[in-house]
Amino acid sequence: MSADRAYTDAELAAVYDSLNLSGEDEAFYRNLPQQTSRILDVGCGTGQLALAIAADGHAVTGVDPAPGMLAIARSKDTGGRVHWVEANGQDFSIPGCFDLAIMTGHVFQVFADDAEALGTLCNIRRHLETGGRLVFESRNPLCRDWEGWTREKTQARHEVPGIGAVEVHYQVLDVQAEHVTFESVFDFIDTGRQTRSLSRLRFPSADQIRSLLERAGFSRLAWMGGWDSSPLAKDSAEIIVLAGV
Ligand SMILES: C[S@@+](CC[C@H](N)C(=O)[O-])C[C@H]1O[C@@H](n2cnc3c(N)ncnc32)[C@H](O)[C@@H]1O
Repeated sequence: MSADRAYTDAELAAVYDSLNLSGEDEAFYRNLPQQTSRILDVGCGTGQLALAIAADGHAVTGVDPAPGMLAIARSKDTGGRVHWVEANGQDFSIPGCFDLAIMTGHVFQVFADDAEALGTLCNIRRHLETGGRLVFESRNPLCRDWEGWTREKTQARHEVPGIGAVEVHYQVLDVQAEHVTFESVFDFIDTGRQTRSLSRLRFPSADQIRSLLERAGFSRLAWMGGWDSSPLAKDSAEIIVLAGV
C-alpha cells in the first residue's frame, strides 16, 4: 500500500492536530525522563509531543517520513528547539546517541510486517546509549477496536484553525488476520471538498511485540495496559512497553 495520504497530504496533515488532541498519553510520555535527556521521537508526526518535551528542557530529535506532517511540525517550532529529520524508522541515521526513544500515537501499528517492525527496532536500538530505553504503545488486538470504526460511531465535526469545519469519519474496509484496512473520509464544509485516505494497520499481540523486541536485542521489558500505568491485562486497551538496552 502506498504511503497514507492522511500524513503525506499537506491539507490532511493540517487537520491532524484538531483530530488528535493531547491526552493522558502525552502526560505519560512527558513524565518518562528522570533527568535532562536526549530524546528520539520516531514517527513524530506534527511534532505535538516532541515540542512539548523540548519545552520541558530535553534535547529532542523528531523523525518522520511524511513531508506534510513535518512541515506542520517545523511551522510550530518557531524557537527551533527540535531537530527534525525526514526519514522512515528503518533508514534514519543520526550522529550521536539517545537516552530515550519513543513511538507514540500507535506508530508501531503502521509497520506492515515483522521485517519492517524489526528493521525499525534494530535501527532505534543502534541509536540508543547503553542503559537507554525505548517506550511505545500498540492497540490491544483482543479489544478489537476496529469494530467501532464505522461511519455511525465515528462521524464528528472538528473546527480546524485556518481551514474551518471538517467532518471526519472512519470506516473499515477489510480485516485480514492481524491487518485492518480502513478509510478516513474528510468533508471540508467551507469548500465542499471531500477527501479520503486509505490506511492499513497491524494489530500485533503482546507476545509478537516481545519476540520482535528480543530479536532486536532489547531486554528488561516492562509492560503496562493503560496511561495510568496499570498492569497489562487481557482487556487492556493499550499494550504499552518499556524496553531497555
Ligand atoms: C498516527 S501518526 C502519530 C504521530 C505522532 N507520533 C503522534 O503521537 O501524534 C503516525 C505517524 O507515523 C509516521 N510513519 C509512517 N510510516 C512510518 C515509518 N515507516 N517510520 C516512521 N514513521 C512512520 C506517519 O508519517 C505519521 O506521522
